[in-house]
Amino acid sequence: MAKFDLEDPELDPAIKDAALTSGGFPYDEKMKSKAYDKQLRALQIELVKLQSHLQASGERVLALFEGRDSAGKGGTIKRFLENLNPRNARTVALPKPSDRETSQWYFQRYVTQLPSGGEIALFDRSWYNRAVVEPVMGFCTPQQTASFLREAPPFERMITEEGIHVFKFWLEIGREMQLKRFHDRRHDPVKVWKLSPVDLVALDKWDEYTQARNTMFIATDTPDTPWIVIRANDKKRARIAAIQSVLWPISYKDKDFQAIGEIDDKIVMSPEAFLT
Ligand code: ADP
Ligand code: AMP
Ligand code: MLT
Repeated sequence: MAKFDLEDPELDPAIKDAALTSGGFPYDEKMKSKAYDKQLRALQIELVKLQSHLQASGERVLALFEGRDSAGKGGTIKRFLENLNPRNARTVALPKPSDRETSQWYFQRYVTQLPSGGEIALFDRSWYNRAVVEPVMGFCTPQQTASFLREAPPFERMITEEGIHVFKFWLEIGREMQLKRFHDRRHDPVKVWKLSPVDLVALDKWDEYTQARNTMFIATDTPDTPWIVIRANDKKRARIAAIQSVLWPISYKDKDFQAIGEIDDKIVMSPEAFLT
């Protein structure tokens, strides 16, 4: 691994060059902007149709986004919401729990954020904090993580049996890509706010995150609520793939399969396929 210095305005070229293909990313070029804009627009039209369908039927959609710091969760959610009616589509990005919330059942503050009839709720991080970021950063005990990993599948089964469409996304980035994104944030005056103390500690905890992610996959990838792993070094491909993955399994009026397009199975996979 090349030398990484967050403070040095010059990023080591070896890291820059390795970023896109790091962690097994299958393409050595990013998706072209023109193709991306065209496909994103087609997908956003489908999302608008989906939203009308949800409002008419009262169906509910919940998609949660997990991944390492800088994986692109916020940017993906932004593309979902860009052309939707904000009245029925919203982001859920909860801050760290207050003292009052810490005294409650762990899932309690998330339950109140589940979608109501006709709504799409997009979670930028979720109850899975307790599986990855909290144990890695020392914000919870190993016992709390162990209980969580046992409780998450039945908790999610209740949500799906209630009739809510649930999608769990893991946005996967490689080591050099994370270094490059942190570096970009540090030296770009409009991005520097994104660099949090948690990110700085995460720099040295790559392997701990990997271990926690794998344990989480094994414990919580269930038939009711499977994980959808998206290789996200290329933000454009990742955003397209996430929107496609939500549109595919839901029936709605005037659904245009052609417009949705094939999901790229080099980008989107199950944890099992990802880990083997
Ligand atoms: P993000 O990557 O979502 O912009 P951070 O990297 O700052 O935000 O934090 C990552 C996650 O860790 C957030 O969900 C945050 O609420 C959570 N977190 C930060 N500090 C604590 C803490 N002391 N206890 C529990 N969770 C925390
Ligand atoms: P529905 O769940 O009823 O909205 O329809 C989904 C059906 O469309 C599934 O049975 C799929 O096999 C089929 N389907 C999904 N993706 C594609 C695709 N890219 N091209 C053609 N057919 C597809
Ligand atoms: C992301 O980019 O994945 C998050 O939304 C922001 C972060 O990691 O700090």
